[in-house]
Amino acid sequence: MFMGNQIKKIGILTGGGDCPGLNSVLYGIMLKAYDAGVECVGILKGWKGFLENQTIPLDISEHDDLHTVGGTILYTSRTNPFKGVSSKEEKAKELAKKFEELGIDALIAIGGDDTLGVADNMFKFANAKVVGCPKTIDNDIAGTHYTFGFWSATQLASNAMDNLTTTARSHQRVFVVEVMGRDAGFLTMYSGISAGADIILIPETPFDLEKDVIEVLKKRVNAGYKYHIIATSEGAYPNLESLNRDFKTISKETIDKLPKDTFGNPLLVKLNMSQIIVDEMNLRDDLKQEFLNNGVDFECRSVVLGHTMRAGTPNSFDRILGLRFGLAAMKLVLEGKFGNMVSLKGNKIKTIPLSEGIKKKYITPDNDKMELRDLLVKIRYLSKQK
Ligand code: F6P
Repeated sequence: MFMGNQIKKIGILTGGGDCPGLNSVLYGIMLKAYDAGVECVGILKGWKGFLENQTIPLDISEHDDLHTVGGTILYTSRTNPFKGVSSKEEKAKELAKKFEELGIDALIAIGGDDTLGVADNMFKFANAKVVGCPKTIDNDIAGTHYTFGFWSATQLASNAMDNLTTTARSHQRVFVVEVMGRDAGFLTMYSGISAGADIILIPETPFDLEKDVIEVLKKRVNAGYKYHIIATSEGAYPNLESLNRDFKTISKETIDKLPKDTFGNPLLVKLNMSQIIVDEMNLRDDLKQEFLNNGVDFECRSVVLGHTMRAGTPNSFDRILGLRFGLAAMKLVLEGKFGNMVSLKGNKIKTIPLSEGIKKKYITPDNDKMELRDLLVKIRYLSKQK
């Protein structure tokens, strides 16, 4: 039978892209660990530090209010220990042996689907004492309603779009704002709706350049609008029909040839979709003419929000969620509930198996945000047509 007092020392690592709230989780873990008499050791740079025995002591007395600080004091990386291995089982067993070398009885891995996928393999194939905590600004982890970091990033993107409207208005310009979110559109959808973006493009609904962008801009300029904000996810892409018909600067090959990260994800950000949209619009004389007919010189610019969206301190929601996740993850360790991750369901912190929780989540067609987006885009210009 598992006894909580078997756990004397735990390792904690943060992997994948950083995000606001990582330190909040750390602090939540450290609070509970201190209370339970468990020592914490920080494993640096995610799985890289785990492989290379890079650790630091974590003394809570030296980290007052760590939950308010952005980023991660443990550093992070996108190292994938399973990359290119022929036997996952052997690799998992090899990794599990590291616990002894590192002097830890259990490990809490904080990360997205990639980082937690490694933890899941270690549990599945080697029964390693691991617990997961879901993190990503992208919010694309199936097992939890929200990941911490998401709302901080959404607020930053929404603020950026709010702010861009003043310069867009002064110059009567079109701004195409590229929002992070590798292959799910939550960030773009939520920040775009929040800021009242005029067009919102997400990966889940491949767009038609003619119908979803050019025609909407023409209708808007005819309805009297003189500036426009287009929010596009870095992972948004056109549907095949539109790609073949409307695009002059990229083809399907361009997308197929994209490089991949160490976990095999295509680096869609390399496309720079906001600039592609700007380049395509600049080639459209019909669009320029429509603007001119309405007394506006057609001018457009792209803005890539990029890493500014992961920057700064976590907002209150993410601080609290991070602390709650940390507390719950440490409790799982003390209760010996390994192979699980913490998650948020409604307003309750729940436990689910890593293998279930780490699946990818996308915005589905029945999501009310889809309808909101479509109404927001359409009703404004329709309601002004006489
Ligand atoms: O996974 C989170 C994320 O911020 C994505 O939205 C983005 O595509 C990616 O990380 C960027 O990663 P990096 O910081 O390695 O460029």
